[in-house]
Amino acid sequence: MTSKNLVCFILMAVFVFRSAGAESVTITVDTSAEKPISPDLVGIFFEDLNYAADGGLYAELVQNRSFEYQATEQPTWGPMTGWDFVQRGGGKGDFWVDSSCPIPPNNPHSLLMEVKSAGEGVGLSNAGFDGIAVATGEKYDFSVFARMLNVGVGRDNKPAGRLPLNVRLESKEGAVLGEANLEASDPTEWKQLTATITANQTVTDARLVVLVKAPGLIALDEVSLFPQATFKGRKNGLRNDLAQAIAELHPKFVRFPGGCLVHGDGVTNLYRWKDSIGPVEQRKGQSNIWRYHQSLGLGYFEYFQFCEDIGAKPLPVVAAGVSCQNSTHTRGTGQQSIPMADMAAYVQEVLDLIEYANGPETSHWGSKRAAAGHPLPFGLKYLGVGNEDKITPEFKERFKMIFEAVKEKHPEIVVIGTAGPSPNGEDFDKGWQFATELGVPMVDEHYYKSPQWFWDNLKRYDTYDRSKPHVYVGEYASNDNKRRSTLRSALAEAAWLTSLERNGDVVAFASYAPLLAKRDHTQWTPDLIYFNNTAVFPTINYEVQKLFSRNSGDKWVESRAKTSSNGEIPRDLAYSTVRESGSGDLIVKIVNGANSVCPIRLELQGSRSVPAQASRLVLSASDASIANEDGHPPAVHAEASSITVAPAFDYEAPANSLTILRLPQRP
Ligand code: AHR
Repeated sequence: MTSKNLVCFILMAVFVFRSAGAESVTITVDTSAEKPISPDLVGIFFEDLNYAADGGLYAELVQNRSFEYQATEQPTWGPMTGWDFVQRGGGKGDFWVDSSCPIPPNNPHSLLMEVKSAGEGVGLSNAGFDGIAVATGEKYDFSVFARMLNVGVGRDNKPAGRLPLNVRLESKEGAVLGEANLEASDPTEWKQLTATITANQTVTDARLVVLVKAPGLIALDEVSLFPQATFKGRKNGLRNDLAQAIAELHPKFVRFPGGCLVHGDGVTNLYRWKDSIGPVEQRKGQSNIWRYHQSLGLGYFEYFQFCEDIGAKPLPVVAAGVSCQNSTHTRGTGQQSIPMADMAAYVQEVLDLIEYANGPETSHWGSKRAAAGHPLPFGLKYLGVGNEDKITPEFKERFKMIFEAVKEKHPEIVVIGTAGPSPNGEDFDKGWQFATELGVPMVDEHYYKSPQWFWDNLKRYDTYDRSKPHVYVGEYASNDNKRRSTLRSALAEAAWLTSLERNGDVVAFASYAPLLAKRDHTQWTPDLIYFNNTAVFPTINYEVQKLFSRNSGDKWVESRAKTSSNGEIPRDLAYSTVRESGSGDLIVKIVNGANSVCPIRLELQGSRSVPAQASRLVLSASDASIANEDGHPPAVHAEASSITVAPAFDYEAPANSLTILRLPQRP
């Protein structure tokens, strides 16, 4: 027999053995033995990566609304990226990108336009992010900042009067899909002009056109168009369908605004939270490490607001005073650190964030939150400091300064430290050692691994020292073949989550990463939710996250498993047993990663009564390699049913499946 044949023979033998169901597995649950576990285990991690914010969750429909795109973001980009100068029906004019008179200095560019002869209009057109999707009957809020500098041309120039503007949504073919008329009149200062446009057709590729209808000179900036139907109807809000898909995950927390994005491409590119609050035209957009522009229209206020809207705890992350060590792939910076002379100010910036979130409205930063429309505190409790940083002396010195200042001024805040980008290795070891010595309450671990790695490491946290910092698994995903989302990868993550539930006394939080990806604009795969301008495509992995977050417990119920011959259970079987205290339900999860049915006997011991029926959710498919091709997920959803149960009963876990049984058990 050749070695190839031998391998085939062994694989077949294993398959026949499993399919024949020779060995069943008995899971014995002691319903009266419980330990508390994290009630907030499953959350989400949002990062502006893959066009997750601008062009994604942030509902702004105009791309490059304030003429701030730069060639440092992408070589072909500049202030006019996304814009076309239009001269209609005999109209003639000219335009310049101007930086002599910005709205605030943070946002240096604006557009100067001279209309020499109006014809049917001279102006600008913007096709949004791959086209603007509008729907019949929907209302859109248009706004623009304008300074009318002159009316008329040549000798007729006069710095007073009115310049008429026409704003319209147009189809690709030029049909008007809705319009509004405005007038610019103030020559001395920027004025915001607003109008509402109602769309009369549904198209996916409209453009916004702003036409000046008389000769004159005008400055324009911050040209914006929002659907009125944002998530919860918030102004400067979020795209409803995407926000809804996130809300349906019922995440217990939201980590934001990113991972690498936070510690940025060199120290001048750190995410500075103060740049992201206040009136949007005053926010200081910048390039992000993923090589596109972030307007910061979706900023700290909007993040906190979103957390509150979906009932999730906010978990912001600030840079630990150093930049991303991987900056080298863009501009060759490597890890840079804030000069020590500037660190006191940086530490204060972190303390100010806590005041912004939690301070009374009479406090300096609390008053800014109140001015934005939220006088009550946001109830911030957790703060991440650092993201997968290289554990260098510079990092340690700066982390310690931030950590000790927060601990002293805000002992109520739980700081989460960092332990490198991998589940082991130098930065992992050094990060953990440093955090333990310093007494940091929680450490953030990250891993992107194969499905097999997850199955092979299900006991990882069983032996973690409970006296050390707790764990936040801030980023994880199982990368199947060619980094695709498959049922196989989703089941590996489900198995992993059962192990986190079992260790929910030491693992406080876990979030899959990345969360969002716009089709054709991905810098990272796989992702949890794909989308385009009109549709949302959640993955099978999303289903798993949703099933776990909606069926999490706050107590671990003791259980053990063995095969009928008293052996170790198969390596592709995982289970967990938790209780949801509010309802009293016992929730049993079983993940069968094998291509064959796994016969299981469930024995419920202990003082709790056993109901006659349990509800059941099953996520499965015959082929584990079923994938989310090009962002389109196959329809694999959990099927709901109910089953008869007893103090001891048999259950067949389908091939490639996650089963969730809910047994009502009143004390
Ligand atoms: O989730 C994508 C990236 O992976 C994060 O930005 C970073 O923290 C990690 O390397």
